[in-house]
This record gives sequence, C-alpha cells and structure tokens, in this order.
Amino acid sequence: MRIAMIGAGYVGLVSGACLADFGHDVVCIDRDPAKIAALEAGRMPIYEPGLEALVADNVRQGRLSFGTTLKEAVAEANAVFIAVGTPSRRGDGFADLSFVYDAAREIAGALSGYTVVVTKSTVPVGTGDEVERIVRECAPRADFAVVSNPEFLREGAAIGDFKRPDRIVVGTEDPRAEAVMREVYRPLYLNASPILVTGRRTAELTKYAANAFLAAKITFINEMADLCEAVGADVQAVARGIGLDGRIGTKFLHAGPGYGGSCFPKDTLALAKTAQDHGMPLRIVETVVAVNDQRKRAMARKVIRACGGSVRGKTVALLGLTFKPDTDDMREAPSLAIAAGLQDAGAKVRAYDPEGMEQARPLLPTVAFADDAYSCAAEADAIVIVTEWNAFRGLDLERLRRVMRTPVMVDLRNIYDPNAALRHGFVYQGVGRSSGGVSAPVS
Ligand code: UDX
Repeated sequence: MRIAMIGAGYVGLVSGACLADFGHDVVCIDRDPAKIAALEAGRMPIYEPGLEALVADNVRQGRLSFGTTLKEAVAEANAVFIAVGTPSRRGDGFADLSFVYDAAREIAGALSGYTVVVTKSTVPVGTGDEVERIVRECAPRADFAVVSNPEFLREGAAIGDFKRPDRIVVGTEDPRAEAVMREVYRPLYLNASPILVTGRRTAELTKYAANAFLAAKITFINEMADLCEAVGADVQAVARGIGLDGRIGTKFLHAGPGYGGSCFPKDTLALAKTAQDHGMPLRIVETVVAVNDQRKRAMARKVIRACGGSVRGKTVALLGLTFKPDTDDMREAPSLAIAAGLQDAGAKVRAYDPEGMEQARPLLPTVAFADDAYSCAAEADAIVIVTEWNAFRGLDLERLRRVMRTPVMVDLRNIYDPNAALRHGFVYQGVGRSSGGVSAPVS
C-alpha cells in the first residue's frame, strides 16, 4: 500500500513510522519546513521512546520519507491519512477543525485514482461528512471515500500501542474503503487485533467516548482518594479492591494530581460542547472536566498544608514537570497549575524534569531549573513528586533528606512507601493514603 500521512505531529509521525514498519510505502507531509528538515536529518520533533530508531530504520529501508508538499504523495497514495492537530478553539472549547478542513481542500486538489481519505485526528461527530463534502466540492469527479479511523495510542508508549492495539476502529460503510483499510492493518489483524467496522459517526464518537470514560475513571479515583484521606482509608487498596472486579478493571485507577496531556482535557471539553450543542448534555463528562480543572490547583494547596500552612519565603522543589513520564509534553500538565499556586502563595519554586525542561522553560519563566533531583532538592523546604518518572522511583532518600532544609515529601503519584519515607525522617504526604495523609517524622 502507498500511504500519505498529512501532519507529522505525535499521531502522524508515530502512525507513519509504524505503518512503514508494517511494510507500506509512507510519505509524511508537514507544512513546517523546519520540522521536515529536522526529520530528514534524523532528529525527532518529540521525545518518544523508540521513535528515532524506528524512523531511521524505515528511512534506510526506503519505506518512509518526508516532504512539505502533498501533491505527489497524495496522487500516488491508496490511502491518505489526515493526522493534523484539532486544538481547543479559544473561547468556546469546541475542537478547532480548520487544519483538518484545510488538509481536505489540499488533498482534493491532488487526488488521482480511487483513494481512501482517512481522518486519524480526533474529530467531533460529523467531521467526516464535512470532509467528504469539501472534497466533493473541490474535486467533483474524484473517486474517493472518507473513513474515520481514530487513534488510541498513548504518549510514552505510542509505538507499542500502535503495533499492538486492543482494537482498530474503522468507520465506513463503503466496502471498497473497508478492503483498503483491512489491507493497511493486515499485519495487525494477523496478530489478532480485532478490527471493528462501524458507521463513520459511530467511529468518531467511539474515540471521544473512550477518552471521556478513561478521564472519568481517573477523576472518580481522584475524588475517592480525597475521601480516603478524610476517613483514614487507603486509595490504592480501594483501587485494587474494586479493580479486580472484571467489570471495573485495574487500569486507570491511579490517584494523582489530575489528568493532563494533549488529549483528555481537550477531548472531554469538546465532547461536552458537542453534546450541549445537540441538546443532550453529558453531565458526567461536564463534571469530570470541572473536577479535574479544580484538582490541579488544589494540589498546590495540598503542598501548602503539608508545609504547615504556609510556603511564604520557602523553597519548593518540583520533581517532574511533564504531564506523564516518558514524554517531553507539557500540555495541560498539572505542574503548571501547581507551580503557579505555590508562587502565588509566596514560595520559590525550583524544578527538574528528565526530558521536559526545554518545553517547560517558556511556560514557567519564573521557576528556577536544576540539573538533577538532588540539586533541585538542595536547601528546599519540601519536594513534590509531580510526575512518576522512573528516575524518581529509586532516589537515595538519605541523601535527599540531608540536602534539604526541611524534609517534607509530597508524593502526588504515590511512588514511595510511606513507611520508607518515614524511616528516612521525612514528613510524607501521598494521595489518598491512610493516616489522613500527613505522617509525622520519626525522631
Ligand atoms: C490518552 C489515551 O490514553 C489515549 O488512548 C489517547 O489516544 C490519547 O490520550 P495520553 O494522553 O498519551 O493518552 O496519556 P495517558 O497515559 O492516557 O495519561 C493521561 C493522563 O492521565 C496523564 O496526565 C496521566 O498522569 C493521567 N492518569 C492516567 C492518571 O492520573 N491516573 C491513571 O490511572 C492513568
């Protein structure tokens, strides 16, 4: 199969590289010449484990190439994937589809022979209909079908998720398009990943429903964590106790500082707006959005409480800034609200992140940056584990306590055993853990 991938962002680049790895001929197109030049030189625009090697290998094998103009790639393609951004529109929270529609217009001008146009970007219900209308209007004689094929990959685990998906969702009612899509994913479904063929609108909604459900699961356990703290229960045991019920499942039940990233915040908001627009408000999703927004800032208040009620003039060290580990992505990261809340309360904030500092610097201009966890904690009055990077799981607690001014640890990801922290002389505060959260240090 010959594939054109429009957009070399997270989804486009990972999907393009993986499809090339399946043996297809893939051209990734992006309008940003600097991004394409970097990719051609082997430099990745994002940090994603395994991506650089996968790209290099497939470029070497001649299956993957890059470009800034889509004309030739689209003309030769059996399938053209639209994987451009769909950010939240400023002001109203709806998904901004201008990049998708621009791509549709450009694609229309370049189609030749039967071509399947695939929306891979997360798009609201009905976008496929509009893409079809635009292409038909711009190229009345073109032979094409528009298919929805949402992507469920996670940052940090993107290649594994793409190559071993739980399922592939293909939204089309056109048998020719279905056959092309089955061919695109043949290597996967030979590996027993089920392909679910649905109507196009159903496929579009499935993606939003999946993200909203996962966001709700996280938000549910986060609220449960707060209740655990209030009543002296342990949220991790509760999560396991409910998760082992096969109807619930153990995944996505880690209490923390609230979800962030490029998908959940934007997609839950867009879904809520779409539903309102149709006169069918999704009250659970609306509440999830509101509760999660408030939670990030509330984490700063949690730190302040752990510091005895005030952080004025104190130094707080943030370990981890990205919204999750194994990415350099800072979009909607809880660290941003936490740093702002602490600074507003008069704290000096110092931070360290293994991969995210370049992205974080412009977003946190008044935060000081350190070179590693220990120099970040030096003379600090509290450390806050904001992101559960592996590098933070095995810190030398003895050394950490010695370099700090006051040994307070706020572990927003519950990666430390509270007893181990206590043994090393820390005042320890996790999320939703027993004894009301704050533990007294042993003398
Ligand atoms: C998510 C979806 O998982 C993926 O299917 C979709 O395609 C894009 O959005 P991603 O944003 O990369 O992927 O990360 P994910 O691992 O899902 O985490 C999202 C956020 O939820 C992070 O902030 C993470 O810290 C948080 N989270 C996740 C929790 O707080 N607790 C959990 O149990 C799981």
